Amino acid sequence: MDKSKKSSAFKKIIYTIIVLLLGIFAGYKFFSPNSGEIPLPVTNALYRNATSNNDSTALKKAKEFTGKIFEVKNGDLIMDAVKEANPGDLIRVFPGTYSETVYIDKNDITLQGIIQNGEWPVLDGKKELNDAFLYSGNGIHIEGFKITQYKGNGIMGQAGNNFVIRNNWIVDTGVYGIFPQYGKNGLIEYNTLTGIEDAAIYVGMCDNIDVLHNEVFGNVAGIEFENSRHCLGENNNVYDNAGGILAFITPGLPIKTTYDIIIRNNFVNNNNHVNFAAPGSTVSGIPSGTGILIMAADDVIVENNIISGNKNVGILITDFENGGIKASSDPESDPNPDNIVILDNLMVNNGYEAIDDIKAAMLVKLTTKGPDIFAIGSGTGSTIKDKNKYVTFGLGNYGIPSITTSYDVKSFLLDEPAEHRDITKKQLGEFTYFGVCSGCHAYETRLIGVPINIIQMIYKDNPEGMIEYMNNPKNLRDDYPEMPPQNYLSDEAKKAVAEYILTLKK
Ligand code: HEC
Repeated sequence: MDKSKKSSAFKKIIYTIIVLLLGIFAGYKFFSPNSGEIPLPVTNALYRNATSNNDSTALKKAKEFTGKIFEVKNGDLIMDAVKEANPGDLIRVFPGTYSETVYIDKNDITLQGIIQNGEWPVLDGKKELNDAFLYSGNGIHIEGFKITQYKGNGIMGQAGNNFVIRNNWIVDTGVYGIFPQYGKNGLIEYNTLTGIEDAAIYVGMCDNIDVLHNEVFGNVAGIEFENSRHCLGENNNVYDNAGGILAFITPGLPIKTTYDIIIRNNFVNNNNHVNFAAPGSTVSGIPSGTGILIMAADDVIVENNIISGNKNVGILITDFENGGIKASSDPESDPNPDNIVILDNLMVNNGYEAIDDIKAAMLVKLTTKGPDIFAIGSGTGSTIKDKNKYVTFGLGNYGIPSITTSYDVKSFLLDEPAEHRDITKKQLGEFTYFGVCSGCHAYETRLIGVPINIIQMIYKDNPEGMIEYMNNPKNLRDDYPEMPPQNYLSDEAKKAVAEYILTLKK
């Protein structure tokens, strides 16, 4: 046997061992939601299932339960209980099928699905409703639901701090699965998500978020940290998406940076699903077969992950320009990835069918296979431990890391709850626009809906008319589909977004 054959035989053995290990983990249902019955809360509903790495955080501390308990049974509306609940109350939802959007604009409400004899409460949007849960309150906890057939989001938060989203199944809920936007101090754990057209778990414009023990497969993007800081993605099983785990900046949003992200102890395997994102969306450009993507984010640590079988590349590190984004579109966002730290990871069999650009770049190394790690574009201060362990490209200026591990950070959750966040009217308009409308509307270009500059001409000085249209959209144009009603938004949010859209500039 010559040397190269030996090493490829060795790789095969390692790969087989990994696949076997994965099977064993799956057998233990390490990642899956827990389907046992949930007992009545003696203490705070949260504490019982405390599982995160740092049990001293505010989201984990035992509190005596003093609230009222509401029970929602098959045939009732969850929303009716929410309307009556006060801060500190617990809403227990029994098995059954609920077809509604639950809108929560109060603080400190826990929604707990009760699982009995393997039966779950199911929220079914029947492909007619946009969102299952839409919260804007602080201290919202949502656990124990199966959510399916929505068109927009499974669980979306707008500006709520101190949230817990745990042990839910989210299947085919449209654009996003779990999408906290502009929240601080939140925990997303033990959820299973599949069939999502954009990001399954989308941490957008958030701070101090732990994303732990989720199983995420069959989506366009698995887990996404966008314009967010101090986030930990750990112990997740991310497979069969087009892109596995992403940390990046989207220019043009109110929060301009992504930094201090730890991606640790995850399985990131075989993310080779076809990219089925809506044309024109940010994630539609992610090449299928991308394990981890880091674009323009800073201070990202990648440690102790198993990254294998991603056909394009294991880890892709890029600036805006090479990521296909015009840096000039937002001068306030730094376009380069700086201080990326790659520590020990196990990477095998990545890049076996890379996109043409990567293949072309690899030709200088006399191979047409993609690498484990591909870095392109500008950026400074990045480092890697044991570079020669991997097939790499573009890491010429990477030095040796000054740290050997990231374990001094166990969690980014806060020891005390973050102050409740109340947003101004202008922010409410801005966030509603970016959270809801910008999925289909862009300023000058045609996405699914009409460009905003045309809307501005039609509704100039007439925000009331736009609200009317949001409530009762009609199909006005032959070459566009009908817009889904946006009447689930609060009156306040509708007014704010209409006014925001009319002042939006390019
Ligand atoms: C799922 C995609 C989608 C989402 C989300 C969406 N829209 Fe639309 N919107 C459309 C489509 C499609 C049209 C064109 C409908 C037509 O002309 O028949 C449209 C048209 C419009 C119009 C033009 C109406 C007119 O008189 O010509 C306005 C105003 C509008 N949308 C506002 C909004 C606002 C505000 C939001 C966010 C709260 C929003 N849309 C979210 C798809 C969407």
